Amino acid sequence: MSGPEYLVEMRGIVKKFPNVVANDNVSFTLRPGEVHALLGENGAGKSTLMNILYGIYRPDAGEIWVYGKKVDIRGPRDALALGIGMVHQQFKLIPVHTVAENVILGLREQGFVINERKINNELTQLIQRYGWTISPNSRVWQLSAGEKQQVELLKALYRKVRILILDEPTSVLTPQETVALFQTLRKMASQGLGVVLITHKLEEVFSVADRVTVMRAGRNVATKNVKETNIEELVELMIGRPLLKISSTRSLDTSKPVLEASGLVVLGDKGLEAVRNVSFKLYRGEILGIAGVSGNGQTELLEAIAGLRKIMRGKVLLDGVDITNRHPQKIIDAGVSYIPAEVLRYSAPEMTVAENLVLKAYRNHLFANSLMIRWRDVNRKAEELVKAFRIVTPTITNKVANLSGGNIQRLVLARELGTLPNTKVILAAYPTRGLDIASTEQIHQELVKRAEQGVAVLLVSEELEELMALSDRIMVMYRGEIVGVLRRGEYDVEEIGLMMTGVKRAEVSA
Ligand SMILES: Nc1ncnc2c1ncn2[C@@H]1O[C@H](COP(=O)(O)OP(=O)(O)OP(=O)(O)O)[C@@H](O)[C@H]1O
Ligand SMILES: [Mg+2]
Repeated sequence: MSGPEYLVEMRGIVKKFPNVVANDNVSFTLRPGEVHALLGENGAGKSTLMNILYGIYRPDAGEIWVYGKKVDIRGPRDALALGIGMVHQQFKLIPVHTVAENVILGLREQGFVINERKINNELTQLIQRYGWTISPNSRVWQLSAGEKQQVELLKALYRKVRILILDEPTSVLTPQETVALFQTLRKMASQGLGVVLITHKLEEVFSVADRVTVMRAGRNVATKNVKETNIEELVELMIGRPLLKISSTRSLDTSKPVLEASGLVVLGDKGLEAVRNVSFKLYRGEILGIAGVSGNGQTELLEAIAGLRKIMRGKVLLDGVDITNRHPQKIIDAGVSYIPAEVLRYSAPEMTVAENLVLKAYRNHLFANSLMIRWRDVNRKAEELVKAFRIVTPTITNKVANLSGGNIQRLVLARELGTLPNTKVILAAYPTRGLDIASTEQIHQELVKRAEQGVAVLLVSEELEELMALSDRIMVMYRGEIVGVLRRGEYDVEEIGLMMTGVKRAEVSA
């Protein structure tokens, strides 16, 4: 084999932000033909390191070598010219444009001659080679998240990148789309590309990567061949200790439900029935899991209970009181707390950490006398929550927009779990999505702790292991309906998996 051993060599990279060393003397290499996982907890510095390689940030110290030559990357344009492409967590596509238009966007300005027919042919070939489902003429707004990602990949391939960085690409994908993406990445590697996969999911390392670099607190703590390591070792490298086991000693009181839903019908965004005739009872101290492929009405169900979406038919009782279609603030005041799936939509990025932490609570007299906000109390509470939920931020006056993705998630969780005093029910939609394992473990412990204190938890998740570990019962949702309920002791991955595809189970009544 000829050519350099490394496509990329980063040496001693240092990047400081106000009060944080995001990258502390980090070295990293990428070989042609490999998928290299960059693994680490929220805030470990993964995105920063790759944003430096892509020219978004300039390092404070360190060197970057590409194809054996020392380079100075001043911006994404320099990176692209070197054959480096990056797919960000938030796609950078123009929805009203077609796939082809998005691909060629910006090329004309860079002096490329645009021949549409030729481009369409080339794109069609690439799409076929990778077995994708998009077409050059589809409009981006019509595409699913997985397909939008294909457009981003197509953009990179069309620009003939040899080094491709993906920042947590699976966080927006269904399990099936993830499998397809990994096949694509393997194919890219087999053609000699070097692929960097930023992730905090250990399974992903083992299903697609050749090497793995683990980052912790801004440092590279190890680079390993995937074949020569295992989950336990990677966990310890990532969080600095082994994982704890969840254990709980709670006893359910099933004499009367805290929350009772009967015959709920709720419309989805497209005006079709997203929730169909759903009934269940949730008891004090119970964690009731909802399993299902996302998009089967789970989110709509929780939003409807929280008062954020209209209930067309049916009733919701909280401690026997009808809260159907009440104002969301009234439902919060009644003791229902909601951890939404799309945390970004439920945070105010331009406001500070402290303001975000008490956004809901300051109306609760806890932090306000009539209309005056008691800032001293707000700040004290905020400091406490930042510590308890390990939100990585230099100060509580930092803007939320500056936090890493996982830390915004922690912030919303802290707000929902930490500030509302009389919570009876927690509605949690994918509360650990996007979180690293240590934070996931912490959220699990928080939920179990709340349940032990008598709070009832309705937990939506796509992770069966999470549901089986935490839930007293699991309901499976498919196309808006409950297709079955299992009790702890009856859990069976295959059976639940089948039910997730719509196979019904004889109802176990509660
Ligand atoms: N533009 C910025 N301004 C200030 N601080 C920043 C900025 N970007 C990142 N940081 C901080 O640098 C640290 C590393 O962040 P980074 O985004 O690289 O983490 P990450 O490993 O990608 O985490 P996640 O898994 O949560 O995405 C964090 O403490 C973060 O708050
Ligand atoms: Mg990141």
